[in-house]
Amino acid sequence: MKLLEVKQVSKRFGGLVANQDVSFGVDTGQVVGLIGPNGAGKTTMFNCVAGYFAPTSGSILLGGRDIAGLPPEACARAGVARTFQIARTFTSMTACENVMTAAMLLQHNVAKARKTAMDWLVFAGLERFADRPAASMTISEQRRLAVARALATQPRILLMDEVMAGLNPSEVREAVDVVLKIRDKGIACLIVEHVLEGIMPIADKIVVLDRGVKIAEGTPQQVSNDAAVITAYLGD
Ligand SMILES: Nc1ncnc2c1ncn2[C@@H]1O[C@H](COP(=O)(O)OP(=O)(O)OP(=O)(O)O)[C@@H](O)[C@H]1O
Ligand SMILES: [Mg+2]
Repeated sequence: MKLLEVKQVSKRFGGLVANQDVSFGVDTGQVVGLIGPNGAGKTTMFNCVAGYFAPTSGSILLGGRDIAGLPPEACARAGVARTFQIARTFTSMTACENVMTAAMLLQHNVAKARKTAMDWLVFAGLERFADRPAASMTISEQRRLAVARALATQPRILLMDEVMAGLNPSEVREAVDVVLKIRDKGIACLIVEHVLEGIMPIADKIVVLDRGVKIAEGTPQQVSNDAAVITAYLGD
């Protein structure tokens, strides 16, 4: 059984069709890239999977259970975590407190939530910021903080929305290393990314959206050689 199965999902905003009959799956332990030009519907798909939007139609199965239309907290409890395209850090809180907000979804004991948060800060290479305000961190570090915060909800699948955007090459390598460490823990990763040199080498599969429609799905090599994908990115 697939861990995540998106089946014929459509999402309309009035007359605008942001996702149209999109289907794809993610297996446990897989890294799947969701790519496509601006406005293709990638973030909308994340919002549907994580419960921020109810799809207009279609189903979203997590471990065989339909989570489409459930609110974000229920999706998080079911095992979906996500980061946001625009990092939402609580800048006046410390890095540890930021991660604790997520740990407390499952753990109401503050001391235990702090311990969980510290473990994920260490995992993300951010333990030196534990007691410092998140405002003191670089964009790259704040993105990893968002990843640590998402992981603290103990997801089965982590959705990352452009965590590599705007990073320099060595920061991209750090972000890639974190993704591989997450995968090695058995957590599936679904990654929206425009930084193709970050996602292509590590993805088991790439799904390509264009104007709301899935135009290709396959290995990074297959989609890079796909005529429809090349046209979508470069024009005719
Ligand atoms: N809440 C909303 N209300 C109305 N339209 C929306 C909403 N969210 C997204 N859209 C529209 O849906 C389409 C897909 O947007 P989406 O943000 O999913 O694209 P994207 O692939 O993530 O693009 P980008 O690469 O620029 O982040 C766009 O035309 C966008 O304007
Ligand atoms: Mg987006």
